[in-house]
Amino acid sequence: MAKAPVTVTVTGAAGQIGYALLFRVASGQMLGPDTPVRLKLLEIPQAVKAAEGTAMELDDCAFPLLDGVDITDDTNRAFDGTSVALLVGARPRAKGMERGDLLEANGGIFGPQGTAINEHAADDVRVLVVGNPANTNALIARSHAPDVPPERFTAMTRLDHNRALSQLAAKAGASVTDIKKLTIWGNHSATQYPDIFHAEIAGKKAADVLGVAPDGSGGAAADDHQWLTEEFIPTVAKRGAAIIEARGASSAASAANAAIDHVHDWVLGTPEGDWTSAGVPSDGSYGVAEGLISSFPVVSRHGRWEIVPGLEINDFSRARIDASVQELIDERETVRSLGLI
Ligand code: NAD
Ligand code: LMR
Repeated sequence: MAKAPVTVTVTGAAGQIGYALLFRVASGQMLGPDTPVRLKLLEIPQAVKAAEGTAMELDDCAFPLLDGVDITDDTNRAFDGTSVALLVGARPRAKGMERGDLLEANGGIFGPQGTAINEHAADDVRVLVVGNPANTNALIARSHAPDVPPERFTAMTRLDHNRALSQLAAKAGASVTDIKKLTIWGNHSATQYPDIFHAEIAGKKAADVLGVAPDGSGGAAADDHQWLTEEFIPTVAKRGAAIIEARGASSAASAANAAIDHVHDWVLGTPEGDWTSAGVPSDGSYGVAEGLISSFPVVSRHGRWEIVPGLEINDFSRARIDASVQELIDERETVRSLGLI
């Protein structure tokens, strides 16, 4: 028997990421080749026409799995019956804006969207926040949705994870598929910490393969610790800014790809013997303040993210995780003081 269509809402649908995302969702790459999707596109009134143009193109693809496209500027209608909510639309940082201004502007978007999800979404709704600052926007949305289980609100750090995979593979002369158990910790910002100390390259510990000791001592080559601290970590953490510098616009296709990966793995499961990274509500694991939406090593089993337990955290990692978590605590204080949560 054919499966019932799943309703997927995409906010900011006429934006860059929306354009790179919608066709892949409609083709079945996110929820699998046997799941029809019904798309709901939310835009601000000025961008509805552009979203209609994208919907015409979706029609022109004749995707067998696409069961319908609904375009609206009404938040309640956009989340009606939705099972997957991709919150992409956000106010970008403008010249002269402080981080607090951005958090306040986005509070005006993510608070009402959280309320609409609470009131109108399907019982099984899963939310992925892509719009920046993603972790704290997810916190704002979640705080407006008291009837939705908190773990259904997540923030995207899969792009950072994929960036780290590529950088590590290039350094090791390995394939990305040889690399397992890499982790992004903390915030989707320049303070994030890409952690190679549990990673494996073709079954061997990455730190041994690369000669990187956590305290900077020893190792196969003196330069390797420097590679970790001065190349790998900053390259991954500042990749978003480097893309903006090179393209003149923020990452779009790679961000859409990461959103597809995140939801795909959340719904369909992560492969055995590996994990991925996602911003999920902290249960206090690894000393991360409970309730923050912080990136962790995660697996998905039976449609739920689980934080990988019991990893040993060395002092090098501890300091970096704590710094990124502190930034999330500061952001939470800012939005709290603005009355947004
Ligand atoms: P964009 O400016 O091209 O598109 C954003 C769209 O959102 C616009 O069409 C705009 O009209 C719409 N929008 C604004 N407010 C809205 C609202 N209240 N409701 C519905 N739609 C609304 O931007 P983009 O390149 O698509 O990026 C979108 C967001 O994703 C930005 O915040 C960006 O910083 C973020 N981003 C996050 C990651 C990540 O890894 N988490 C990566 C790349 C980009
Ligand atoms: C990215 O990581 O590419 C984006 O979050 C960068 C940005 O600031 O939009």
